[in-house]
Amino acid sequence: MSTQTSSLQIVRPARSFQGSVTLPGDKSISHRYAMLAGLAKGTTRLSNFSTGADPHSSLSCMEALGATVDKSNKDYIAVTGVDGSFRAADVPLDCGNSGSTMRMLAGLIAPHAHTYTMIGDHSLTLRPMERIRKPLSQMGARIDLVEGHAPITIHGGPLKAIDFDTPIPSAQVKTAVLFAGLQAEGTTSLSESIRTRDHSEHALRAFGATLTRTGDKLLIPGGQRLSAIDATVPGDLSSAAFFLCAALLFPDSNLVLDSIGMNPTRSALLDVIVALGGTIKVLNVEEHHGEMIGTIQVNRAPGGLKGIDIGGALSAQLIDELPVLAAIAPYTRDGIRIRDAKELRVKESDRIALVAKNLKAMGAELTEYEDGLDIPGNQELHGAAIDSGTDHRIAMAFSIAALRAVGETEIHGAEAAAISFPEFFTHLDGLSQR
Ligand code: S3P
Repeated sequence: MSTQTSSLQIVRPARSFQGSVTLPGDKSISHRYAMLAGLAKGTTRLSNFSTGADPHSSLSCMEALGATVDKSNKDYIAVTGVDGSFRAADVPLDCGNSGSTMRMLAGLIAPHAHTYTMIGDHSLTLRPMERIRKPLSQMGARIDLVEGHAPITIHGGPLKAIDFDTPIPSAQVKTAVLFAGLQAEGTTSLSESIRTRDHSEHALRAFGATLTRTGDKLLIPGGQRLSAIDATVPGDLSSAAFFLCAALLFPDSNLVLDSIGMNPTRSALLDVIVALGGTIKVLNVEEHHGEMIGTIQVNRAPGGLKGIDIGGALSAQLIDELPVLAAIAPYTRDGIRIRDAKELRVKESDRIALVAKNLKAMGAELTEYEDGLDIPGNQELHGAAIDSGTDHRIAMAFSIAALRAVGETEIHGAEAAAISFPEFFTHLDGLSQR
């Protein structure tokens, strides 16, 4: 058992990792459904909406913009949209810790002829926002940042379509441009050289929008209106990642995760697990509003964990899963090398620096690079005091490393897990065999 205070969680080593769980809805998809429901005409009912704080920041912003959000039904959240016209908000739009809310919402509201202020917590105020200011100002919005960061002031109004080549692989930037393009004059085109998660494309179509993809180019005609939908959000594969990696650590693990989102632009982790020496069975695959959902069973193949080199497009596709892969790397035979992952330095924390600091605290050897880490295998770790840096994925990644360490691990700032996965420590206790 682990014990919890407001910010400290003790995680003890486990003998094995077994059981079956259904996880709350995907954070990325929940954000998109919340925002498009807020803009659409009619009442959208969203089942299995994320329980994480971040997508609820998106819902609160929708309320501030004139949508109605009803959380009173236990089976779904109902969002009644503004039918294409957001009102002037009389309070700043508070995005909390959520980069997705701030960046995607900027694109959604920029076509509306009001002045909006967007704010966030300390971590969000450190994150780069020039990446959305650039395309949105090319479209005609006037956007003020403070030295490239939030608070953001958006002087919105009618926008013109643009042709945009995304300079960094970012689904949030892509989404900001698509959401603005949806409401602009003319057809916006967007190219991405590394294909990022495509939840926005599926969500836009689900809400009735037209958009097409040819090769690496997306085309979205402007002046489109959206209609409400009923949808169930697939379970969050990036939350599942922590438990999938935990299952790899023990020879006799057996983990079953129900109704997990398996969108191919998100599921590179499953290939990595197989490459490391896990066996995965996927059962009951279905498609809802363009999103694949399936049940995943994972076991560790006999013979222990191999290693892997992660770089190029794979780093972008695995960006949210890299912290937990790095945290289990010392327990592999050949280690894990990560490159082309500079974006990790501008997430909720500098994830490269924090992973390095916390792995070293547990006794690991490693080399840190500007864009990644080399973590040799065959290392034994010991329990230590872990600094989450108030970053949810760091808190959870090191709780998984703790399961195979010698002695207890203290996760400081453990409450950060609630940003994406409030049930994390309860499930961790339930699945860890001691
Ligand atoms: C997200 C995209 C990624 C990811 C984030 C969620 C999304 O960010 O790290 O957790 O929902 O589009 P970037 O767009 O900054 O890569």
